Amino acid sequence: MSIIDVPRIIAHRGASGHAPENTAAAIRKAHELGATWVEFDCMLSKDGRVFLNHDETLERTAGVSHKACDLELADLMHLDVGSWFNADYAGETIPSFRNVMSLLSELGMGANVEIKPCKGFEKATGAAVAKEIDSHWPADIPPPVVSSFSKESLIAAIPLLGPEVEVAQLWGRVPAEWRQELAELGATAVHCNAFRLEKEIAGQIAASGTPLRCYTVNEAPLAEKLFGWGVNCIITDYPDMFL
Ligand code: G3P
Ligand code: MG
Repeated sequence: MSIIDVPRIIAHRGASGHAPENTAAAIRKAHELGATWVEFDCMLSKDGRVFLNHDETLERTAGVSHKACDLELADLMHLDVGSWFNADYAGETIPSFRNVMSLLSELGMGANVEIKPCKGFEKATGAAVAKEIDSHWPADIPPPVVSSFSKESLIAAIPLLGPEVEVAQLWGRVPAEWRQELAELGATAVHCNAFRLEKEIAGQIAASGTPLRCYTVNEAPLAEKLFGWGVNCIITDYPDMFL
C-alpha cells in the first residue's frame, strides 16, 4: 500500500477560484498561493492522448459546441479556455497531461489525478491515464493519488499502476458498504462530496485509517467541521483561504 504524504489542502482543478480550471495558469496560481498539491481532471482525446478538462463538451470553457473527446489533442490545444474566466487569461490553452507532469516537476508539486472519462470511454481513459503515469510521472515529485467516480476506469487503471500510487474511489455520497467496495476494487482511499458526508461514516472511515478527502470545500467553518470528523484533506478552489 502506498504511503504518500498528502497535505491537508489540495487546490481543486488548480486554484480554480482564481484562474481558469484545469490549465497551467491554475496550477501555477496554486503554487504561487502556497499550495503543494493540485487536483485536475484527465480525459482522452480522439487520437488517444490524455489532456486536462472537466466537462464532456467544450461549451462552458471554450465557447465551442464540440464534445471534448471528439477532437484530437492538437486541435484541443489551440482552444482558448481562459477568456470565459477572465480577459486576463485570454489565450490560455488546454494542457496535455504530459505537459502538466513536466510543470509539476518544475514547480515541485504533487497531484491528485482524477480520471474523467467521456461516456463510453471509461476503460480506455483509465488505461491511458495509468500508462502515462507509469511511463512519465516525474521521479522528483511524490507519486500521485489517482481517483475516479468511474469504477470501470479504476479497474482498467489499477493493474497498470505501481504500488507507490494511491488509488481513491470518488463518491458523491459514500455508500454504507464503502469498505467492501474499496476492497473489491483494490482502492485504498475515499474521496467524497463534502456536503453529502455524514459524521458517522466519516468516523468509521477515519477509525479504519483509510485516507478520507472531501471536495469542494470553499468555506472555513465547513473545513473545520470536516477536520473535526477526521477528514484528512480538503480539495478547494481557494487554497489561499486555508494556507
Ligand atoms: O476530485 C474531486 C472533484 O474534482 C470531483 O468532482 O466534478 O469537480 O471533478 P469534479
Ligand atoms: Mg475533479
